[in-house]
Amino acid sequence: MCGIIGYIGREEATPILLKGLKNLEYRGYDSVGMATKSDRINICKGVGKIDRAIIDFDLTALKGNIGIGHTRWATHGVVSVANAHPHTDCKKSVAIVHNGIIENHQEIKEKLKAKGHIFSSDTDSEVIAHLIEEKLEQDRRGFEKACMEAFKELHGSYALLAISRDENRIVAARKDSPLVIGLAESGTIFSSDVSALLEWTRKVVYLQNYDVAVACKKEVVFHSLMHDEQISRESDTVEWNAEQARKGKFEHFMLKEIAEQAETICRAIQQDDTVVERVLEEVKKAKGIFFVGCGSSYHACLTGSYLFSKVAGVHVNVVVASEFENYEHFLTCDTLVFAVSQSGETADVLDAVRAARRRGSRVIAITNVIGSSLVREGDELLLMNSGPEICVLSTKTYTSQLMLISLLAYALAGRKEECSSLIKSLFLEVCNLTSKSMHEDLKMLAGLLYQKEHIYMIGRGLQFATAREAALKIKEVSYIHTEALAGGELKHGPLALIEEGTPVFAFVSEDNWDKTRSNAEEVRARGGMVIGVSARDDEVFDYWIRVPECRDFNPVIQAIPMQLLAYELAVKRELDPDKPRNLAKCVTVL
Ligand code: F6R
Repeated sequence: MCGIIGYIGREEATPILLKGLKNLEYRGYDSVGMATKSDRINICKGVGKIDRAIIDFDLTALKGNIGIGHTRWATHGVVSVANAHPHTDCKKSVAIVHNGIIENHQEIKEKLKAKGHIFSSDTDSEVIAHLIEEKLEQDRRGFEKACMEAFKELHGSYALLAISRDENRIVAARKDSPLVIGLAESGTIFSSDVSALLEWTRKVVYLQNYDVAVACKKEVVFHSLMHDEQISRESDTVEWNAEQARKGKFEHFMLKEIAEQAETICRAIQQDDTVVERVLEEVKKAKGIFFVGCGSSYHACLTGSYLFSKVAGVHVNVVVASEFENYEHFLTCDTLVFAVSQSGETADVLDAVRAARRRGSRVIAITNVIGSSLVREGDELLLMNSGPEICVLSTKTYTSQLMLISLLAYALAGRKEECSSLIKSLFLEVCNLTSKSMHEDLKMLAGLLYQKEHIYMIGRGLQFATAREAALKIKEVSYIHTEALAGGELKHGPLALIEEGTPVFAFVSEDNWDKTRSNAEEVRARGGMVIGVSARDDEVFDYWIRVPECRDFNPVIQAIPMQLLAYELAVKRELDPDKPRNLAKCVTVL
C-alpha cells in the first residue's frame, strides 16, 4: 500500500508532486520516487522518507510539466532503490507508479522475460511498464491503446499512473485501490486520496473500478476497461478544506486530531434522519447481524456489540474483517452486515463486504471517506463526518465510530433524543480531557512508563473493548508491548506475567467497579503497578487517571487520555507519532 500522485498542466510538475507526496506520505514512507517527462523520462528515487529524500538525492531537479510520484510501503520486494517506484520498461520510454498488488505478475514476468525483457526490481509493479512496452511494439496504435491492452491483462488490485517519453499525457487506471482526479485551475492532478489534493482544488472525480482516465493538457477523457468504450464521469465538490489537512499550531497531526474530538463526536451524530430510520428498519427485520472491521474499527465494533446488547437488547456478532470468511456460510439475504472502516478502502473489509453481497446480505457502510470503495459497495451509508485524519493512528475517527454506533443503539431503544443530548453534554468533558493539565499529568506518567518492556490493560464489558483500543494505540506508536485482557481472564494465565513494577491499567466504570477492583487487587498482590482509569480514586491504584463517569459513553471518555498517553510515550521515545514504523494509514492488501 502506497501513495501515488500525478500532474499534467501548465506548471512545472515537480513542486506539485513533492507537495502531493508529502501529503500522501502517511500512506507509506519507506521509499519515494518521481518521474517527469521532458524530451525524455527523468527519474529520481531512493529509500527513506520524503524530507530525507529531497536532501539525499535531488528530487527537485526534475524538469517538465508532466510527472508522476510514489511513496512506498513495501509488499513485494525489500525496501531498496531498485524496488522504489517509478518503474520503467527496458528502453526507459514508459514510467509507471502503482498502488496495489498484481496477482499474476509472476506469469506475466515469465512471458515477458522469454521475449527478452530485462527486469531490474523484485516488485510485482514493474511488469506493468514492460507490458505496456510490449503492447506498444505489437500494435502501433499509440500509448493510450497500449496501456489499455496492458491493463486488461492485470489481475489483482491497482491504482496506477503511466507516462510515455513520446506523448504528452498521463494514463491512469483503477481497480480495488483508490484513485481520485483533481480538476485544478492549472491542470489535472491524480492522487490516492482527496486530502492530498486540497491545496489545489476541491473539484474531483472519483475513479471507479475498471475506469481508465487519459489526461492531456486540456482535458480528461474516461474509458471503461470492461466495456472498451468511452464513458463519462461526473465531478464532485469535496467538503473538506486544505486547512483541515494541515497541522496548524500542533507539533503533530496525532495531537491535532486528538484535540479535535470535542467537535468531531458531535459532528458524527449529525445524520440524515431518513437514512437512520432506514438503517433501524433493516436492523429490526434482520435475522442475524454482523459488525465487521479491522484494528481500531474492530474495537469500535466490539464496543458496539456491548452497546447493542445493553441498550437495545439486540444481539450482534462481531468479527475481525479478515476472519469473516469463516462465518460466510451463516450469511443469507436476511443477514445485515455493518462494515466499519475509517478509510473505506481496507481490503479485508471490502473482501467481507463482497462476501456478504455474494450471499445477498445487506450492507451498511460506516466510513469517513466519501469517495471510498465502501461507499459504493454498501446499501446504506453513514458518514462519520470527522474531516481528514492524516496521522496513521485512528483517534478522532475511532471516537466518531463509537458515537455513530451509540446513536444507532439508542435509536433502536427509542432513546435517540436522549443520546443526542448526552453526546452534546460530552463536549465540555472532552475539552477537559485534552486540556493542558491533563496533558501534563499524562506526560509525567509517560516519563514513568516509557522504558517499560510490557504494559497490560484490563477491563470488563465496554471497558474491555476500551482496554483493547488503548493497548493498540500504545503498541503501534511507542512499540512497547501492550496487551489487553478481559479482567476476569487475568487469573486464567496472564497473571503469571505480573512482576514487581509491571504496569497494569485498570479501566473501571461504576457498572463493574467491584469485580474490576478485585482484579486490580490480584495485580497489586503480585507487585504490579496499578494505574486506574476511572471517575474515583481507590487505594488499590498506584496512579490514577481521573475521567468523568459517563456510563455508555465511557469508551469515548476513557480512550482519549490513552490516546494522549500513547502520543507522549512516542515523543519520549523519540519516535514519529504520525508515521509509526511498518504501518500505513490505509491497508489495501489482504
Ligand atoms: C489503529 C489504526 C488501524 C485501523 C485499521 C482499519 O490506530 O488506525 O488499526 O483502524 O487499519 O482501518 P480502517 O478503519 O480504515 O478500515
